[in-house]
Amino acid sequence: RDESARTGIAERYHLSKQHFWLHGPRTGPQVEFEAGMWNVYGYPEVHEIFGDPATFSSDTMRVIPEHLLPDGEDFSLKGFITQIDPPEHGKLRKLVSSAFTRKIVADLEPRIASLTHQLLDAARERGRFELVTDLAYPLPVIVIAELLGVPSSDRALFKKWADGLFERDSKVSLAEPAEGLDAERDAAMEATLKPWREMTSYLAAHAAERRRQPRADLLTRLVEAEVDGEKLPDDQVVNFAIVLLLAGHITTTMLLGNTVLCLDAFPEEQARVRADRSTVPAVIEESLRFLTPFAALGRATTREVELGGVTIPADQLLMIWLGAANRDPRQFRDPEVFDPRRDPNPHLGFGRGIHFCLGAPLARLEGRVALDILLDRFDTLRTDPDDPVVLMPAPTMTGVRRLALL
Ligand code: HEM
Repeated sequence: RDESARTGIAERYHLSKQHFWLHGPRTGPQVEFEAGMWNVYGYPEVHEIFGDPATFSSDTMRVIPEHLLPDGEDFSLKGFITQIDPPEHGKLRKLVSSAFTRKIVADLEPRIASLTHQLLDAARERGRFELVTDLAYPLPVIVIAELLGVPSSDRALFKKWADGLFERDSKVSLAEPAEGLDAERDAAMEATLKPWREMTSYLAAHAAERRRQPRADLLTRLVEAEVDGEKLPDDQVVNFAIVLLLAGHITTTMLLGNTVLCLDAFPEEQARVRADRSTVPAVIEESLRFLTPFAALGRATTREVELGGVTIPADQLLMIWLGAANRDPRQFRDPEVFDPRRDPNPHLGFGRGIHFCLGAPLARLEGRVALDILLDRFDTLRTDPDDPVVLMPAPTMTGVRRLALL
């Protein structure tokens, strides 16, 4: 049953073998060394990593070989919340959480619903519906831009930056580049740095403006946030705004596209959720397990450690394959079946532990509201067989780039 579901989906959506290799359940070793880094695929092993940030540091920059870092430029992810370890992480997380609260997110529900309707109305007028361009991309970008307080009309810029940073089509390798490939590597590095610089100066200008003239927006709340008499330094306000702007759109875009793909691939589940809308949140959770948007995360070992029966030395880079862990048959029965009735569904789509996704309430809300409205407005959600689904090229991301509905 598993194998046929798997093959059916692969053929239907033209998924590559590599994609399955990285995201499917694995019967072989759960921890493997390849291309200079350790790949971790098993659920218990990944779980162990999330529970021990002292051994498995999020500060991966310190183990990235020099040849992969830009020359002579102060480029570092070090200041980003996702890269910071305890005890600094806890302090920063408290500060940003005091500005980006669950209440702020919950209050967005009516706006998310009205935006979804507006976007669907506009698509209907155009007479065709492509999920990504018409809804899954613009909805979360507009929501996060409005929340932060930057003009949502600048979203072509945000898209350019996000594409420049995320659209990698190959697996990263820590191996030395082959002779003659230096120029290629430098061009790729520049392609990453340029959007980074532009985004930093754009958000720094907006943050500076809020200091001068506070407004009712998240940037102002970040500038003013204070916990135990401490405020966020300027660069941390900008860093966090960058994380939100990037995380705030590409991730929910993937979630929405993936969920529609799952309901297309499993029509009996679409019928079930139509019959009982209270199961929409469970569909979203199972979509996060079945097609995990951030399929891989990085960590670095701070000491020699045994994991999954393998000894990993200190200062090694680890790739944690969340997509594979979410299909580990030791944790999930029939992992290749999309089954929203799993209860509990302890998927790792939002990570776990101290770095657990801060945007999870927003992503879940956007997913739930948009899916509910899609189900209301479309008698059936079915992909157009004459306009094949296109997936994102990076193996570390699972998302659709184009998904035309009938
Ligand atoms: C962290 C996934 C949406 C903001 C994370 C992590 C994962 C993740 C796996 C853990 C990273 C780690 O442990 O290294 C997702 C998925 C999303 C989503 C699958 C959508 C389906 C969002 C949204 C926002 C957001 C909408 C904000 C608007 C963040 C932040 C962190 C984070 C700030 C860092 C938390 C920390 O390091 O303490 N996310 N995310 N995410 N996410 Fe999300």
